[in-house]
Amino acid sequence: MKVILVTGGAGFIGSNFIKYFLKRNKNYIVVNMDKLTYAGNLNNLKELESSPRYHFVKGDICNNELVNYVLKKYRPCYIINFAAESHVDRSIDHPFTAADTNIIGTLTLLEGARFIWSKPGTAGNRFIQISTDEVYGSINNDTDYFTEESSLMPNSPYSASKAGADLLVRAFSKTYGVPAIITRSCNNYGPYQNIEKFIPTCITHALQDKPIPIYGDGENKREWIHVLDHCTGIIRALFYGKPGEIYNIGSGEEISNIELAKHILKYLNKPESALKMVSDRPGHDRRYAMNSYKARSNLNWSCKYSFSDGLKETIQWYKSNRSWRE
Ligand SMILES: NC(=O)c1ccc[n+]([C@@H]2O[C@H](COP(=O)([O-])OP(=O)(O)OC[C@H]3O[C@@H](n4cnc5c(N)ncnc54)[C@H](O)[C@@H]3O)[C@@H](O)[C@H]2O)c1
Repeated sequence: MKVILVTGGAGFIGSNFIKYFLKRNKNYIVVNMDKLTYAGNLNNLKELESSPRYHFVKGDICNNELVNYVLKKYRPCYIINFAAESHVDRSIDHPFTAADTNIIGTLTLLEGARFIWSKPGTAGNRFIQISTDEVYGSINNDTDYFTEESSLMPNSPYSASKAGADLLVRAFSKTYGVPAIITRSCNNYGPYQNIEKFIPTCITHALQDKPIPIYGDGENKREWIHVLDHCTGIIRALFYGKPGEIYNIGSGEEISNIELAKHILKYLNKPESALKMVSDRPGHDRRYAMNSYKARSNLNWSCKYSFSDGLKETIQWYKSNRSWRE
């Protein structure tokens, strides 16, 4: 059995990834190291509790001693770093917390990987850094796209700390030869996303007939990918990606926040009067859009979900999983 260390696996994308990966890769054990912040929820992984191929370690990726202990004990051949303070609004209120986990936590993992993988017999090992399109900053027109070569121009403490982590990953790859790959995905949606995030907020508020807050004029555009399409992109990068490379993982499906909220209201038969315009988020990026040609051509990856089908399925999931929501 090979071992993968997944960090932040009790969160939204990490928990979807672990379940998806273990179902399809029977010769792997996953060790999930998670601090269980407000965003971590072990109920996301309940079905794996008694699996011999799943181990949980409660802990902080900034804890050098614990990270080294886990690496020595389990000897993973792959490390996938999902752990992050991932909420932009929270990072605006608590920039140190975002920087600690996103930068120092990533550095701690990289340093651990550098030592544990400096021994012979580690060829083929991989460190995958799960990053975001937000590191590229904002596009102020409707036609441009970010490629992997675009400059990093982050605008929030969240995106700045993720950009900092990406640069450390690059430096560890160049300086020490750590076999690291960065994936940058657009906004994810799907089951098990924390209800503070935009789509779950729209769905849960609509279901409870509460106003749905929309920042600014609502015309900020995002590219949306189903979480399982993101997971398949990560798996393709893990098995077929080249160390030192960056892969954008986007769906090409863009929509403004206000249009998206209207779709959700329509699907749930709720009136548009539920939309409540609120003052804009400071430093709010106008548009994110990526060119993901490299992942499609070099990794032979593509999305399986259309946004409209995936969104309907996600709305149904939140409707049917009231106890999880609450
Ligand atoms: N959600 C998106 O739309 C999106 C898009 C692109 C990239 N990403 C990136 O994907 C990754 C996962 O995002 P998500 O939406 O699942 O986030 P999430 O907030 O749902 O989950 C984060 C997880 O990390 C854990 N965690 C936080 N700090 C930790 C620490 N110091 N040590 C160990 N564990 C810690 C939390 O307990 C939680 O389980 C993040 O790195 C994020 O930047 C997310």
